[in-house]
Amino acid sequence: RGPELFDPQRRNSMGFDINRTSELSTIDLARRSAQITNAMPILSGEASPQEARDRHNPATESVLGAVANASDADVQAALSAALPWATSAAERAAVLRRASDLYERDFGAIFAILQKEGGKTILDAIGELREAVDFLRYYAAQAETSELPPRGVFVCISPWNFPLAIFTGQIAAALSTGNGVIAKPAEQTPLIAAHAIRLLHEAGVPRTALQFLPGEGATVGAALTSDQRIDGVAFTGSTETALAIRNAMAEHLAPDAPLIAETGGLNAMIVDSTALPEQAVRDIVASSFQSAGQRCSALRCLYIQSDVAEGLVEMLKGAMDELTIGDPWSYSTDVGPLIDKDAQKEIQAYIDQARSDGRLIKQSAAPSRGSFVGPALIRVDGIGDLEREVFGPVLHICTFEANEIEKVVDRINATGYGLTFGLHTRIDGRVQAVTDRIEAGNAYVNRNQIGAIVGSQPFGGEGLSGTGPKAGGPNYLPRFRRMAGQEVSG
Ligand code: SER
Repeated sequence: RGPELFDPQRRNSMGFDINRTSELSTIDLARRSAQITNAMPILSGEASPQEARDRHNPATESVLGAVANASDADVQAALSAALPWATSAAERAAVLRRASDLYERDFGAIFAILQKEGGKTILDAIGELREAVDFLRYYAAQAETSELPPRGVFVCISPWNFPLAIFTGQIAAALSTGNGVIAKPAEQTPLIAAHAIRLLHEAGVPRTALQFLPGEGATVGAALTSDQRIDGVAFTGSTETALAIRNAMAEHLAPDAPLIAETGGLNAMIVDSTALPEQAVRDIVASSFQSAGQRCSALRCLYIQSDVAEGLVEMLKGAMDELTIGDPWSYSTDVGPLIDKDAQKEIQAYIDQARSDGRLIKQSAAPSRGSFVGPALIRVDGIGDLEREVFGPVLHICTFEANEIEKVVDRINATGYGLTFGLHTRIDGRVQAVTDRIEAGNAYVNRNQIGAIVGSQPFGGEGLSGTGPKAGGPNYLPRFRRMAGQEVSG
C-alpha cells in the first residue's frame, strides 16, 4: 500500500475522513456495538451521566465520546451465556482468517481509532494492525495442527498500550483452540476493542463464544476472574494485578485453571566500548522513546561502559533534539502523547523529582496541550537499581567499568524481572557469555529491543515479568487446551 493512503489531508480509499471526529462518534459505535453481544458493551447516548465516562483524545484533550462500563448484571449475563466454540479446528481457523481479512479491509477506521483513542503514531498504528493480523493467522494455522479439546471459557484481560494487537492475540489464541471468550479491554481503550469484536462477529465467531465487557479491572475484571464458571485467564498488565488475579483464581477456580500472564519489566541494555555508536544510539532511542516508552518491552535502564559513556550520552542528547514530539497523525512525529492525563502527571512528577535531585541529564520539550511528556534521560549513580517500572519516555543511564560486565548482568537478573534485554558489542564471545547469563524472555543483540514479530520472535518474560508460555510462539496454544485424557468442562 502506498503512503498516500495514510495521508491525513486526504480521504482514504474507504472514504473515511480521519480528521472528522464525528465519524468516530462513540454514539454511532455504541449503536452498532450494542447489537454485538449478549452483555451490553458501550452505551454512550443512552447511559446516564453517572454510568458513562468521557473518553478524551490524549493528543488534543477533545472528548471522543462516553463509554458506559458493564454492570454487575452484564457480567452475570455474559458468564451465563458464554460457551466454548464447538466446531472443527478447520472451521475456527477459517473464521479467524476471515477476521484477519476484515481487519485489513478496515485499516482506515482502525488507524483512526488507534490514533484518536490511543494516541498512536502512524508507525505504531501500522505495526499494531500488522501484529493483530499476524496473531489471527498464526494461531489459526497453529490450531489446525491439533484437535485436543478446549478448556472451556477464558477471560481475556488486555492492556491499553496494545489495545488491538494484544486484545486480538489473547482472543484468537483462546478461540482458535475452541474456547469461549469473555473479553475485558483496558478501561482506557474500549473503542478499538469494540471495533475488533464487531469484526470477529462479522467473520463468523458465534456470539455465545465471544462476549465483550468493557469496565474497570477492580469491578468487572475482579468479578470475572473469581467466578467458578471460568476455566482460565489470559492477562497482560501489571505484575501486581497478575498476582491479585492468581490469588482470586486460587480461591475460586478449579485448581488446574491456568493463568497466562504477561506483565512488566525493568528492561536493560548493555553497550560496551566496542559497540558502533551511531547504531547503538538509533536503537536506544527507538527502544526507549518509540510509543512514548509505553511498551512493556521498552528499554528502561541503559548500562554504558564508562570509557565511551560521555560521548554516547552526548550523541543521545543530540538524537533527542532531532525527535518530533506531537500530533500522532503527522508523518514526521516520532513520539506521541501518553495515554491520559493521569499518566502524564505521574511520569512528569517522576522526572521533576530527578531534576530537583540533580539527576536529570536532559528532557526534550513537548506540547503543553494534550498528555505529552518530553523524553528524558536520568542519571543513576554507579550500577544502581531502578525501584520500579516507569511506563513512559524515561531512560535511566548507568555506567560500568570494563571488568564489571558480569556484575552488571547479575544486577539486572537480581531485579527479579526478565522481559527484554539488549546488548551492543562487537565481541562475539561476549554475545555468547552475556546471553547465556541473562535471565530474560527476549534478548536482542545489536538492534533495538522492541517489536517482537509474531511467529519468529515469540514474546514473553520470566520471573516477575510473566508466566509464559510466550505469545506468538509454538508453545502458547497448548495452555489453552486440555491434555489428552482430560474431560472437557462447560
Ligand atoms: N510485543 C511488544 C514488543 O515486542 C510488547 O508488548 O514491543
